[in-house]
Amino acid sequence: MAIYEILKVPHQALTTPAKVVEKITPNVLKVLDNMYETMKFAQGVGLAGPQVNILKRLAVVDVEDGQGRLDMINPVILEGRDMELGPDGCLSIPGVYGDTKRYKWIRVRMLTRDGEVVEFEETDFRARAIQHEIDHLDGILFTTKAVRLYRDEVPVGATKKRTL
Ligand code: NI
Repeated sequence: MAIYEILKVPHQALTTPAKVVEKITPNVLKVLDNMYETMKFAQGVGLAGPQVNILKRLAVVDVEDGQGRLDMINPVILEGRDMELGPDGCLSIPGVYGDTKRYKWIRVRMLTRDGEVVEFEETDFRARAIQHEIDHLDGILFTTKAVRLYRDEVPVGATKKRTL
């Protein structure tokens, strides 16, 4: 295991679209493990490849809702419903939170660590986290989507434990 350096804005990797993972090698799995360690070390609940200068479509999420760790390879949103405004924060943009519109319900397709294609539905904050991470894979930061940014205050519902 290793802890990666988390890039901060305005690093160019954060606004560069990541490439599809063509083959799941032992190195890909090691990168996911290191990303998870890095996310936990930083007390975040989600982390995407570009945030650690790995421009591959890889992300990890653990929003501490009892559902555990989710490793995502090449994730895509197939369908979304019920847009709602909620708080986003990002490990790459310390001290800044924002109110961002995201789907409350999503259907996702991705590859598992075993290379299996899976589809599943997700709701609420876990769905928000997945959307935030997939945005990272497209080089999109929440600050470009937020309807309001908070720099010197923390919006209702946003805490360190909700930083992606
Ligand atoms: Ni983020």
